[in-house]
Amino acid sequence: MTTSDLLGEVKRTGTLPGLPDGLYLDGSFQAARAGRRMESFDPGTGEAFAEFARGDAADVEAAVASAAHAFKSVWRDTAPAARGRILARAAQMILAEGERLAIAECLDSGKRLSEAEGDVRGAARAFEYYAGACDKLEGRSFPLGPDYLGYSLAEPVGVAAHIIPWNYPLSTAARGLAPALAAGCTVVAKPAEQTPFTALMLADILTRAGLPAGVCNVVTGTGAEAGAPLVAHPLVDHITFTGSVATGRRVMKSAADHVTRVVLELGGKSPVIVLDDCDREQALDGVMGAIFENAGQICSAGSRLVIQRGIADGFLEELVARARRLTLGHGLRNPDMGPVNSAEHLAKIAGFLDRARARGAEILTGGRTATDPQTGKGWFFEPTIVADRPAADELVQEEIFGPVLTVQLADDADHALELANGTPFGLVAGLYTRDHGTAHRLARRLDAGQVYINEYFAGGIEVPFGGTKLSGFGREKGLEGLLGYCRTKSVAARL
Ligand code: NAI
Ligand code: MG
Repeated sequence: MTTSDLLGEVKRTGTLPGLPDGLYLDGSFQAARAGRRMESFDPGTGEAFAEFARGDAADVEAAVASAAHAFKSVWRDTAPAARGRILARAAQMILAEGERLAIAECLDSGKRLSEAEGDVRGAARAFEYYAGACDKLEGRSFPLGPDYLGYSLAEPVGVAAHIIPWNYPLSTAARGLAPALAAGCTVVAKPAEQTPFTALMLADILTRAGLPAGVCNVVTGTGAEAGAPLVAHPLVDHITFTGSVATGRRVMKSAADHVTRVVLELGGKSPVIVLDDCDREQALDGVMGAIFENAGQICSAGSRLVIQRGIADGFLEELVARARRLTLGHGLRNPDMGPVNSAEHLAKIAGFLDRARARGAEILTGGRTATDPQTGKGWFFEPTIVADRPAADELVQEEIFGPVLTVQLADDADHALELANGTPFGLVAGLYTRDHGTAHRLARRLDAGQVYINEYFAGGIEVPFGGTKLSGFGREKGLEGLLGYCRTKSVAARL
């Protein structure tokens, strides 16, 4: 089937033929033990388009047992170069099967097809990157003098659980699974109940790329029924969680029972600082992408514009004009902006704006729910910009996770820094200025895991990613992300 054939069929039927509908356990698709199933919705229409297995604690038990067995019996002792070859093959297959993956992601999450295609390329890149790192995990030797030999081994930690959110289902799975597998860990992944399919498709690709049965398992289902028993399981050695602060806290408390390692990648309320000496076009493009890409449902979205007063009026005027020009529509048609992921989430976003209106906030554009103009269906929110809010306002302090930009006015660079750091989050910060001295001085003082200078979202799989404060801790991506799946064993011998 050629590209346009498949896409045409999906547009006609509203679903993708051949979607996986079981859990992925021990190298094959299986029904949930209790036989239960649930529906996944297409946010672009608000209608269910496919069913999937609704796993529970019994399925988690089987998946963890499978992963623990595969760890001891095969994967930790597979030669690193051989692990690398499997991951490299998987990277190629992700690209080769990219169209199906992108369409599945678009239907399931609501994101625009072109963004989903970008996520597929990113997922392949994560496997490519970590494929090359498998055989470069070196230990060290320690200088104990002539009568001793001291050295370290970078050992895989064991079974790694991955709790995956709905905003970047494939990307988040890939950036977690690739380093875990590269390090020699085995995996049980729990995708979000809103977006189960691409993690299942990825597990199947990995098996066809040569991954032994049991090394990668996927249990679909709800957070309460499948996620909670997974993170509480005594045979899980490491948890990578991406999602909300509230659930992250719960996961960390549960992990404490077995002293299980956790990486928490939680929310953000990331500032984009625009100083008056910036390249205006560059800054306008950056601010637009920072908040309206994926309809603002990005942990690292730039949801606060911290702008120097001198240029604020003209800049905001142009920003509002651009926001009003954005087209909304079903993701498969590649509008400028797609829907948000669920009816509940849409209501949550709308609640923030209703309360803001009641407080007398000035909404420069947007602020209401919407539908696909072609069908009148779907869960959409207008691209929204809210004029200057005081630092204590909930639009400044709380993650909305939607296409809502809150403005804050700054007198100068130091004031901008103070405003930027003034939330309980610290995931990323963006900065637009032509003065490199100012840029790097602020970069040191910004309380955030990463700083983007003159290009929001600059970076790639090579760059460690994670938060400070309520945005969480631990780092994914980069070699640091790989080391997160290793533990150091020190060996000291008397000669
Ligand atoms: P959530 O944090 O509850 O869900 C994320 C993942 O955790 C899903 O796979 C879910 O099934 C799982 N989960 C839920 N409860 C669990 C538990 N007790 N133990 C283990 N796993 C569990 O987030 P939700 O409810 O989907 O969205 C709520 C809000 O969180 C959103 O409105 C948004 O503001 C924020 N969010 C932030 C994300 C980020 O990337 N920082 C991603 C998704 C949501
Ligand atoms: Mg869905």
